[in-house]
Amino acid sequence: MIMKSSMTKTEPKKIAFSGIQPSGIIHIGNYLGSIQLWLEVQGHYDAIFSVVNLHAITVPQNPKDLKANTLNAAKTFLASGIDPEKATIFVQSDVPEHAQLYWTLGTITKLSELYLMTQFKDKSQGTETVLSGLLTYPVLMAADILLYNTTTVPVGDDQRQHVELAREIARRFNDMFGKTFVVPQALIHKTGSRIMGLDNPGKKMSKSAANKNNYIALTDTAADVASKIKKAVTDSEGSIYYDIDKKPGVSNLLTILSLITGSSIKDLEKTYREQTTYAGLKNDTTTALVDFISAFQKRYRNISDAEVKHHLDLGAQKARAMASQKLEEVYERMGLSL
Ligand code: TYM
Repeated sequence: MIMKSSMTKTEPKKIAFSGIQPSGIIHIGNYLGSIQLWLEVQGHYDAIFSVVNLHAITVPQNPKDLKANTLNAAKTFLASGIDPEKATIFVQSDVPEHAQLYWTLGTITKLSELYLMTQFKDKSQGTETVLSGLLTYPVLMAADILLYNTTTVPVGDDQRQHVELAREIARRFNDMFGKTFVVPQALIHKTGSRIMGLDNPGKKMSKSAANKNNYIALTDTAADVASKIKKAVTDSEGSIYYDIDKKPGVSNLLTILSLITGSSIKDLEKTYREQTTYAGLKNDTTTALVDFISAFQKRYRNISDAEVKHHLDLGAQKARAMASQKLEEVYERMGLSL
């Protein structure tokens, strides 16, 4: 694994920061593309993971649901194996420095850079009123990352462009005001950084998909999983091998199965070499997902709301201590503090 081989005893600990929006469901794409990387870095890096509720309000939210989803997202971190002894977990709005740094960074970010963001283009398309928060969202994400001297940002492929912008903003600030920010790097899976929609493997799996068959949610039942995988779009060739362009659906199932079971895609291709239908691959993917999700749900049910709140409170205190130092430095550099 990357961090073991690249870390020596004398090297200072690297710092990882990442977040997930509490916008309803958390799907297997979020887990495999992102949380699985968090589990790899925790213990090796100083790890900080946030439920980014300020990002979630860039699209309309029901306040009651947002509260519940925020708590549930943090519970998902814990049930996934994020260990609060090893990682700091907190809710973004509990650390006001995020919004404060966001404002200062916004003053050195060009509108043209924000209009270039693919996610902004996708999310604003077809909407009559585009709210400014949707456009400036990547500046808040840059603030999240830069507040903690983050070296490493474990994310899925769809966040690559946002991390690139955070790097650009960090370099620009350092050039204008003197070295203040660490220029972070994205940490992205080679395979699995883009889990595709089951109903349309040409597009990434997405929380906001209109069709529930697009995704496997961590809250799905065994019956949901079986039905969704059975309906997953493949092709009519009848042979199983990995080729994203020619066989996006089959490649997506192989990727999911590989990441859940830890078997390599090469080994899976060998297993299914003689098969002429996709039933075996679909059955095995269903079994692997059901085993994984039911174990996850069992852990989830055993975590109380009080326990989550306790960890989030402690996490916010730790995060604030770090974030306030960095913000002070920024204010000093910019001439904002007397
Ligand atoms: P969000 O909440 O949309 O997604 C959370 C994480 O899941 C990854 N992801 C995927 N990975 C693989 N395949 C998919 N289909 C898939 N869909 C989502 C995302 O890449 C992400 O890593 N802007 C971020 C949250 C954020 C953040 C940050 C992340 C806010 N501040 C600072 C890192 C650092 C977002 O909306 O993620």
